[in-house]
Amino acid sequence: MIEVNGLKKNYGEKVALKGIDFSISNGEIFGLLGPNGAGKTTTLKILTGQLLPNAGTARVMGLEPWAKRDLLRREMGILPEETNHYERLTVMENLQIFRRLNGVSMDGLKEILKDVDLEAHQKVKAKKLSKGLKQRLLLARALLHKPKVLFLDEPTSGLDPSSASNIHSLLKKLNGEGITIILTSHNMEEVDRLCGRVAFLDEGEIVARGNPQDLKRSYGKNKLEVMVEENGSRKLHVLDLNGEESGEKLKNWMNEGRVLTAHSIEPSLADIFIQLTGRGKNERINK
Ligand SMILES: Nc1ncnc2c1ncn2[C@@H]1O[C@H](COP(=O)(O)OP(=O)(O)O)[C@@H](O)[C@H]1O
Ligand SMILES: [Mg+2]
Repeated sequence: MIEVNGLKKNYGEKVALKGIDFSISNGEIFGLLGPNGAGKTTTLKILTGQLLPNAGTARVMGLEPWAKRDLLRREMGILPEETNHYERLTVMENLQIFRRLNGVSMDGLKEILKDVDLEAHQKVKAKKLSKGLKQRLLLARALLHKPKVLFLDEPTSGLDPSSASNIHSLLKKLNGEGITIILTSHNMEEVDRLCGRVAFLDEGEIVARGNPQDLKRSYGKNKLEVMVEENGSRKLHVLDLNGEESGEKLKNWMNEGRVLTAHSIEPSLADIFIQLTGRGKNERINK
């Protein structure tokens, strides 16, 4: 579905992409994960034909996006980073305008409104919508022409957890109907929940890739949370399973019959990111 090889992009002196490679198969939900400024939006803009790369190749359904933009427009749905509705028009009027601009019929509009759960808000002006509803309208617009592949730039950025969760369910449903999805995010938990495969982008380079489970297994340090009885009270210890002293400690506690509970803790994708880049999560996300 998507093939990217040696893709480079500069903005003047600024190198945004240093030569990235990845491929995405039909039917996947693929996550491009990275902090602000990593190059996520740049990658999506190249793949959707909005930007030209300086070097490398990219193919979407076998076509070069910037050369075959008109052909591909029918196949691609794009959810941009910024909301750009006609604020003074209603939900329905916004959809009608985008339908006309894209020359698609109104068939299936009801279905789409139902999918994104905007039926009850058809007559509400865009400016009156909550952030979550605005994002759903953006998604409805991306779906109007029934695309085969969806490009979503930070689809849940700035949304409260329940609105984000609504979007997640909807994306899973769309994917279940056969739509290939590529999304960007700086939210590790989000890509963990949604994506079959992810690539970590950092300063224009892919620093790791794979499915979230494998990444967690290969990069994350597994930890064991052990509740130990100490002088009549309970104390929680966290042991690094790869650590040299952990086995010895655990053996002693067990021999003394002091282990009350033990649970293994999986590393989060956030832990892996920090391990890969050597930088703290907050430092990166709030940059
Ligand atoms: N139009 C532009 N002109 C100059 N620099 C840009 C422009 N767009 C993006 N950049 C820079 O390129 C880098 C990658 O940006 P971007 O792709 O937007 O990252 P992300 O979406 O991961 O936050 C950043 O350092 C950003 O400042
Ligand atoms: Mg961006």
